[in-house]
Amino acid sequence: MQHDAIAVIDFGGQYAHLIATKIRRLHVLAEIRQPDDPIEAFHHYKGIILSGSPSLSSFGEDSTYTKAIYDLDVPIVGFCFGHQEIAKHYGGTVVHGGREWGPADLRVAGNCPLFKGLAATERVWMSHFDSVTSVGPSFEEVGFTTLGDSGTPHRFAAISSNSLRRYGFQFHPEVDNTVHGTEMMANFVFDVCGCQPSWTMERYVEERVEQVRQQVGTQSVFLLASGGVDSTVAARLLGLAIGPDRLHLLHVDNGLMRKGESDDVLETFRQFGLERNLHFVDATGVFLSALDGVVEPEQKRRIIGDTFIRVFEEEARHLGIEGHLLGQGTIYPDTIETGGTKRADTIKTHHNRVPIIEEMIAQGRVVEPLADLYKVEVRELGEKLGIPHKLVWRHPFPGPGLGVRLLCSTGIEVRDGFDQTEPAVAAATGRYGLAATALPIRSVGVKADLRSYEHPVLITGQASWDTLLELAAAVFREAPGINRCIWNLGHAHPARVRPLPATVTQARLDLLREADYIVMDGLHRHGIAESIWQCPTVLVPLEIDGHGREFVIVRPIHSERAMTATPAALPGTLLSELQEAILRLPGVSGLALDITTKPPGTIEWE
Ligand code: XMP
Repeated sequence: MQHDAIAVIDFGGQYAHLIATKIRRLHVLAEIRQPDDPIEAFHHYKGIILSGSPSLSSFGEDSTYTKAIYDLDVPIVGFCFGHQEIAKHYGGTVVHGGREWGPADLRVAGNCPLFKGLAATERVWMSHFDSVTSVGPSFEEVGFTTLGDSGTPHRFAAISSNSLRRYGFQFHPEVDNTVHGTEMMANFVFDVCGCQPSWTMERYVEERVEQVRQQVGTQSVFLLASGGVDSTVAARLLGLAIGPDRLHLLHVDNGLMRKGESDDVLETFRQFGLERNLHFVDATGVFLSALDGVVEPEQKRRIIGDTFIRVFEEEARHLGIEGHLLGQGTIYPDTIETGGTKRADTIKTHHNRVPIIEEMIAQGRVVEPLADLYKVEVRELGEKLGIPHKLVWRHPFPGPGLGVRLLCSTGIEVRDGFDQTEPAVAAATGRYGLAATALPIRSVGVKADLRSYEHPVLITGQASWDTLLELAAAVFREAPGINRCIWNLGHAHPARVRPLPATVTQARLDLLREADYIVMDGLHRHGIAESIWQCPTVLVPLEIDGHGREFVIVRPIHSERAMTATPAALPGTLLSELQEAILRLPGVSGLALDITTKPPGTIEWE
């Protein structure tokens, strides 16, 4: 059957693939295309979408794509970078400046079919350094946002040319945080492009099973099974495609698991009747000695990924199945954040995308049946494949485990750029009457599709949840070098915060495991574990006013696809319980709640 289809041109933006996913959920086939694909590749589409990009349109970066698309008589819409490119192509201006992160209110003005049925003000999601400051003669401004308290209009957040059927949004309608983003895309796909909905998830499963069968042929697969949602769904799908006899599962305890996790995982696979080919290795010692003395986050990630493969190969040799293909439950965010599409920036190297694995992929030795799905689709698929609800909806846990939640330090304070950062932080937080300090350590984040490695701000004082979030947004907008805000749940606002030398050790991991257990137990006891998407607990080696050596941070978030996130509020009674239990743990210097959206922070700290 022929389906109406939309082309999504992937300029390397973090959300390019999400656009395609969202359109497929409208039952319309969407395909990813590269910017330099020949024009013939675009002839059968009913519409084209230009994605965001880590490149800067204002400086003419990435401007050599197939411009002949603009001569086609099909509707085109661009998001973020794509919006800027459309504006420029038709005589508008793009400048470097006017940056916005996270939520913004779009005031809809003028007449644009993409806003049909929507309100005069819409909550949208921003992540950009550049902005459009004028449009060409056939275009009109159809939406603007306001910047900060000043209420100054931030112009051209949405532009439209009904005669040319060209449209542009500075914001990202594809992310869940743009409340009616799906409606905007549906208006484009159905009303403007005239597509018929005929594409389904069942069809996707059939295609994927067939693809796995073709790739695997008569070989067998050895799957790294952490026991998380992704590897469990991958195990089920592989089982469906090649049968249980040719599928071996390996669960590795890397010493970076949660308290009691490996025992639970093995029990779950046994309950699934998969014990015959289920293998287990306790490799705690191997991982800890490989990580000994390492501080830099990307180096830690690479070591963890490489060590997984070493352990896997050794176990395969031991079992005499070294010729098997490597199976992984890799999902799309793992690939995109590792810089795994042509133009994307490396935000962080996911454990299943380290160079050794990239080599194995190039040799055709890796099977990844979920590699183009997001978590929400993996869950939907998991439910379709009969995996119990409780397992499908458990919190995601990263492959490198607690390794990316245990920050390490040389003990040297990092204060680069603080002469500009500190006054800006003080000005923003001072307006709200709260105390704040930029911390002399860094964590990983994402800003305008680029990796950032910047400082958190610790905020102390009482304020409503909404005020705290508003304050955090103001700090991100106004203070350079900041990608996180955390709210102090510990003692008085500190006069002196000092990083201490620390690496990955058994004792630190045990402390983190204990704090994490307290947090997860609290979420379950209060009945809110399922309504929160994920809740990392993080340990940072910080001494506060001469006391303690480990600062604990709790990061509850709401998300759907992990590409964006908003901080989740916790009930006051739970916060008091956490204060009571965590501040009592030996060596703990303080406790804070992470109140950062993604962007500019990532969900994990490293
Ligand atoms: P970030 O920190 O990039 O995380 O916002 C997005 C989601 O991915 C998980 N995560 C990983 N999952 N291997 C994984 O399987 C990894 O290396 C990895 N790093 C982050 C993270 O927990 C969150 O759900």
